[in-house]
Amino acid sequence: MTTHHIRSGAVSLIIDITDGIPEVLYWGAEISAASDSAGVLAALRDATVEGVPHGLSDVSPRQGIWRENSRGYLGRPALDGHRGGLDWSPLFRVTDVVATDTSIRLEAADQQARLAATVTFSLQPGGVLVIDHALTNRGDSDYTLNELTTWLPLPDRASAVLDFTGRWTKERQPQRHEIRVGEWVRESREGRSGHDHSIISIAHTATTSHNSGEAWSWGVMWSGNTRHIVEKTPTGRQSIGAGELLLPGEVILAPGETYAAPGVAAAYSADGFDGITHAHHTWLRSRDEHPTALRPRPLTLNVWEAVYFDHDLEQLTRLAEVAAEIGVERFVLDDGWFGARRDDTAGLGDWVVSSEAWPDGLDPLIDMVNDHGMEFGLWFEGEMVQPDSDLYREHPEWILHMADRTPIMGRGQHVLDITHPGAFDHVLGQVDAVLSAHNIQYIKWDHNMVLIEPGHLGRAAVRAQTEAIYRLFDELKRRHPGLEIESCASGGGRIDLGMTFHADRFWTSDCNDALERQSIQRYTQYAIPPEMLGTHIGPHRAHTTHRTHSLSFRATTALFGHAGLEWNLTETSDDERAALTQWADYYKANRGLLHGGRTVRVDHSDEAAYVHGVVSHDRDRAIFAYVLLDTTGGSTPDALRIPGLDPAGVYTVTRVEFAGGPSHVSRALPGWWAAAADGSFQLTGELLQTVGLRPPIIDPETAFVLEFNRVS
Ligand code: DGJ
Repeated sequence: MTTHHIRSGAVSLIIDITDGIPEVLYWGAEISAASDSAGVLAALRDATVEGVPHGLSDVSPRQGIWRENSRGYLGRPALDGHRGGLDWSPLFRVTDVVATDTSIRLEAADQQARLAATVTFSLQPGGVLVIDHALTNRGDSDYTLNELTTWLPLPDRASAVLDFTGRWTKERQPQRHEIRVGEWVRESREGRSGHDHSIISIAHTATTSHNSGEAWSWGVMWSGNTRHIVEKTPTGRQSIGAGELLLPGEVILAPGETYAAPGVAAAYSADGFDGITHAHHTWLRSRDEHPTALRPRPLTLNVWEAVYFDHDLEQLTRLAEVAAEIGVERFVLDDGWFGARRDDTAGLGDWVVSSEAWPDGLDPLIDMVNDHGMEFGLWFEGEMVQPDSDLYREHPEWILHMADRTPIMGRGQHVLDITHPGAFDHVLGQVDAVLSAHNIQYIKWDHNMVLIEPGHLGRAAVRAQTEAIYRLFDELKRRHPGLEIESCASGGGRIDLGMTFHADRFWTSDCNDALERQSIQRYTQYAIPPEMLGTHIGPHRAHTTHRTHSLSFRATTALFGHAGLEWNLTETSDDERAALTQWADYYKANRGLLHGGRTVRVDHSDEAAYVHGVVSHDRDRAIFAYVLLDTTGGSTPDALRIPGLDPAGVYTVTRVEFAGGPSHVSRALPGWWAAAADGSFQLTGELLQTVGLRPPIIDPETAFVLEFNRVS
């Protein structure tokens, strides 16, 4: 028997291997050195062995990592597959273990079923546990794999699950339910992760909140079809599992072939949901290729909602002039510059500059943008093709489809089968040619159609399509060092932990309505750091909801992300431009904190309000927003408390106003409000956390920002 204990970021994982069966004995808060001695850890196994109830088998079933039925396990197994109807019930035994301080790699084999499995558990910075699972066919005939799920035990005290659902313009809406006997299965079958995708799901205790209590999260690192499961068996034991959802026959392993499952990222928090967020942000930020490791996130203007398909150099020049005056650093030309794409009915597939839209090419526009001190970005949707395109006329067979059926279209487009080498080379070649011929640092890559009947030569091909887009992005980045890619899919339809490793930014939602954005951004940030999420100030009247909001509310909302604008700025007044310039300056001066600090969402009694912010790691500075989503119940709202500062520190409290601050109808404002205009109001971190500040009675759908700076 051997027991391995690894730890990182205040998290421990203990794996026991007895009689060749590997078992996760413990995953949670860091176990101290006192418990980490051979004798004590050995006793841990006995401490966890269950009694044998009546009515089941004679042995206490050990779940093991693969939860084999051959060991008496009656819940959902990790592996579901067979070899022509045989070898369907595996029994793995560990053959090799390689452990470091933060990782454990297990190799195992089932000699009779002629299968080999490899699992690597590795604790990342921040304590996120990444589990990579692979299965190899060691037989001499094909092995059909239906499912390989990565499972972790979930303590019995976790009583509920929080996950996320959504739709176009309303992504990542939280939903909760109590864990009951049975399975709660969330599946994505769109061929992209989807608007409804739970980037992570979170199990928690009855009292867990943002700032306290235990939580266990898990999410699959994949942009295709996925499955997340919570299982509770009648024994009372519960577990969390995730993996790729494989369509029938999608993975049939030839002799010697290996299936590498997408990684599963799991986090434990003793500090509420914010602890889960902190773990993910710390992990993703620790990567060398993380966007902020390279340079600050440029203030972006995307012209989509400003001009839509109406591409006109003169108009865009006027827009660029105003953008430059405000301080925009990146100018992105969206849909409509290529092929026959004068509206959304034609052109996808032909990634060649349209001489109709751009008679002198894109250079005059790009030069003008560069002359105004901004870099240039361009829109693509390379995985799609429309019947009215040269590509489709030449290769109608290069679409994902089944039999001789033409699949249902969405937005008048088909999904290009980029698992086909010819189609892949076509897209790579044309995009590469555009990037090589122009000064382009950034591409926005859209994906507006779900995958219907995603067949390649009759076989299901979501997995291959997903691998192909990863390959394509990686190759474009290899050929164009420094290129940044924004992943968009009708807004936030492809935001997931897999794409995080191939793209640099996500278009969070097509909804620029600041009220809707509050919840969309809040919950997308559970797992994705704000610097990877595009947050734009839209026009006064939101295009997708027709709600109107003050500039102050829109600016406050867009501040907490990779900020930008998506608005016809040529229609703005002098006052609006002045306010936008001040906001842009503030964003630039503070993006180090906004994009590197610890994200905090305050447990607040008033459901009509969000209080959220970012605290620097040395706790010297913080920026918080108080957001009133709706009218409050009481006539004076609950105090806003600021957790996360140094209790012994003394802080100035300064109001930061964009475009005049929040509107209100109060007869008098709270005592601290006037003094916070110039930073002359001070409190300790302890009092800010425990007593807090009584906010003014502001109007619904308004917000204000406070800055906290340590003076001693
Ligand atoms: C959908 C995207 O989400 C929008 O931002 C925009 O790029 C359009 N597609 C363009 O067609």
